[in-house]
Amino acid sequence: MTFTLKLRHPSVLAAMAGRNDGEFCRAIGELGVGMVTLGGISVDEQSMKASRKMVERGRREFLFDNLHSFLEENIHVAAESGAQVSVNIRSSTVTGYVAASHLIQDLGSTVEINAHCRQEEMMEVGAGQSLLDNLQLLKTIVDELESTGVTPLIKFRGNVRPEPPILTTVCPKAVHIDAYKEGERGFDFSVFERISDYECFKIGNNSVTTPDVASKVLEVCNAFSFAQIAWNRAAVRALVDAIPLTSQD
Ligand SMILES: Cc1cc2nc3c(=O)[nH]c(=O)nc-3n(C[C@H](O)[C@H](O)[C@H](O)COP(=O)(O)O)c2cc1C
Repeated sequence: MTFTLKLRHPSVLAAMAGRNDGEFCRAIGELGVGMVTLGGISVDEQSMKASRKMVERGRREFLFDNLHSFLEENIHVAAESGAQVSVNIRSSTVTGYVAASHLIQDLGSTVEINAHCRQEEMMEVGAGQSLLDNLQLLKTIVDELESTGVTPLIKFRGNVRPEPPILTTVCPKAVHIDAYKEGERGFDFSVFERISDYECFKIGNNSVTTPDVASKVLEVCNAFSFAQIAWNRAAVRALVDAIPLTSQD
């Protein structure tokens, strides 16, 4: 049977590093969203070093000394909304992903591997989008997690590398794809057309700002996600209200 993420509503708040803390996730979750994403967060020494460098040049990142207490506090607050919580993580090592993923799962949350971030500091330590250039490593991460009982979501941008080989090499059970196309605005449906034969749980992301777009995304995905419109609570509420709840059968 194919893997399913049980969400009360097929909507997801996508990661925004330095912004999506527990309180922000709780506020969005309280609008009825199905899943809220905490982070992205850096979960090992090298990726945290990269985050610190990024902050020095003005980017917002979550900086903390104790991963366990950061996760515990923020997951607890986000989960008060009743939404499923996922945590978007970046690491320079497989062991970093494994250790953090077990903490996250033990705290009742879903793990999302960040193969999306293209900040140079993060790519230099082998995290974020650089994983798309090392599919064997990405596969090892997924295999290590699955063999120890964690099913991660893989978050990446479309139109960066051909998507079908990413899926057939890494074999993820769940993906969260930013259907982005350089120089164009809006959700690029061709990304999901190219992977329509690959069965897994799919979350579609990019410029999902209206119920009309969300409904079209749900024709090719199991759920839709949004990031930047989270600043506009009325727009999020309109998405939640217009799209039917996930059926519970
Ligand atoms: C400020 C900001 C920070 C982001 N940080 C992350 C991140 O840490 N991890 C990640 O996978 N995506 C991150 N993203 C990408 C978003 O999750 C999303 O894929 C992208 O913004 C497109 O969705 P949207 O059109 O609804 O904003 C970030 C986006 C923004 C605007």
